[in-house]
Amino acid sequence: MTANNPEDFCESAQCTPMLDPDETCTIDVPDPCAVVIFGASGDLAKRKLIPALYNLMTKGHMAKEFFVLGVAMDEGDDESFRASMKKAVEAAHPKRFSEDKWSEFVDRLYYATGRFQDPAFFGSLRELLEGLDRRHNTGGNKIFYCAIPPKIYEDVIENLGQAGLSRESRGYSRVCIEKPFGVNLESSQKLNATLQKHFGERQIYRLDHYLAKENVQNILMFRFANSIFEPLWNRRYIDHVQITVSETLGVEHRAGYYDRAGVIRDMFQNHLFQLLALTAMEPPASFEAASVRDEKIKVLRCVRPFPLDRLDEHLVIGQYGAGELDGREVPPYREEPGIPENSTTPTFAAMAVFIDNWRWSGVPFLMRSGKRLSVRKAEIAIHFRQVPHLMFPTIQQGSIAANTLVLRVQPDEGISLLFQTKMPESRDCLRPVLMDFSYENLAGLEAYERVLIDCMQGDQMLFVRADGDEQAWRILSPVIEKLESETLPEIFPNYTSGSEGPAEVDALLGRPWRQWRPL
Ligand code: BG6
Repeated sequence: MTANNPEDFCESAQCTPMLDPDETCTIDVPDPCAVVIFGASGDLAKRKLIPALYNLMTKGHMAKEFFVLGVAMDEGDDESFRASMKKAVEAAHPKRFSEDKWSEFVDRLYYATGRFQDPAFFGSLRELLEGLDRRHNTGGNKIFYCAIPPKIYEDVIENLGQAGLSRESRGYSRVCIEKPFGVNLESSQKLNATLQKHFGERQIYRLDHYLAKENVQNILMFRFANSIFEPLWNRRYIDHVQITVSETLGVEHRAGYYDRAGVIRDMFQNHLFQLLALTAMEPPASFEAASVRDEKIKVLRCVRPFPLDRLDEHLVIGQYGAGELDGREVPPYREEPGIPENSTTPTFAAMAVFIDNWRWSGVPFLMRSGKRLSVRKAEIAIHFRQVPHLMFPTIQQGSIAANTLVLRVQPDEGISLLFQTKMPESRDCLRPVLMDFSYENLAGLEAYERVLIDCMQGDQMLFVRADGDEQAWRILSPVIEKLESETLPEIFPNYTSGSEGPAEVDALLGRPWRQWRPL
């Protein structure tokens, strides 16, 4: 018997294989509840929310007593809503859809037409909900999910509050909103003030879907359930960190929103800064929402403000031009439907962020994200320092890749570690090899299933707290304002669709031995 075969090893050591694809962790079934979706005729409800609720029910993760009330301005009734949601669920899960399960689900779907700005409508909504609550025994528990344009969040929140629907006299009342939470610090503070006028912070669920991705949740487990990485997780052993979220998609049909937002608001203020906080935070006092969110905010408070007079030393922006992706010609950003022909909105950014604290002093966090890049990929790569001295005579100092630990967020969620080994037969030839773990074949919850179930369970760990959101704006709002006032139309486009982004990003690396990981 050799220890090369993991099964032999397990047998000899009398242990069980570490990862059994059939083994599942149990999920506590939450209390009965109503889910009210504002914007029920929109894309998010059809593509994500209703299919996620259907899945949760079929997997047995939800209480039997629940109902879903779709609310939208479009005319419609329960029957038309049910028919259109059936198509949506079939389209989202062609293999998982079953007529039997659908018939269990469909009787719990309802629809109401109304104007979100109309306080009287919210009075009738309250009565409708009381009746449905009695019919379905949901104990007065309600989740209000705002799948609507952010500019009408405040109308809905104000009207929910005025109608008494935020009160928790019988059962809970929770509100879910999606990013963007405002467009700058001031507007996010205003939105938070409206929310907090009617809802307590523990009733508010600000959703960043990146936090619900399996390997993003895993960052805390990986860091704090293993003893071998944490001692190395600091400036003494880490040279720099690269956080990448690249997309192949262009602006799609979202010109109205995106051209006002741009990549820094759309991706950095939320998704990339959340990844940064989870990677850089100190161990929390406990695995509870408050402790985890406290540590995340501490990291964001230590982020060094960008020097506005030398922004180009820390930041590169780009906008995609025409190019080719997957063998097809794609137009430049400025020729996408609805985009002004001289738009100065960045669709790509790369930045060097420094965290001024004991753990990270001097370690750059190099972050980049953009649309229409060569591949779709999100990852956090920890680049360890070069060895201090290379004793092998034929190998030059700095010529071998340093150890790199990569947390792959998507696709193929997993973790890999690069290290050097001796080439067989050679005397002192080295080659880098990868030790790899993949989440492939392990069925988890999809991001929207996770956030819905957590909201039903009252677990806010994967949601953003007001102070965390505002702190990210505090760092980035001045940068965005400066760029918006100074970016000249002639600098764009500066990268080809299907490429790795603008060439200028190399200037951010700071040291000759650093390289961006290829996309
Ligand atoms: C959204 C952004 O938050 O995230 C989109 O608004 C972006 O512009 C999307 O495409 C990326 O999410 P994912 O899960 O596909 O990486």
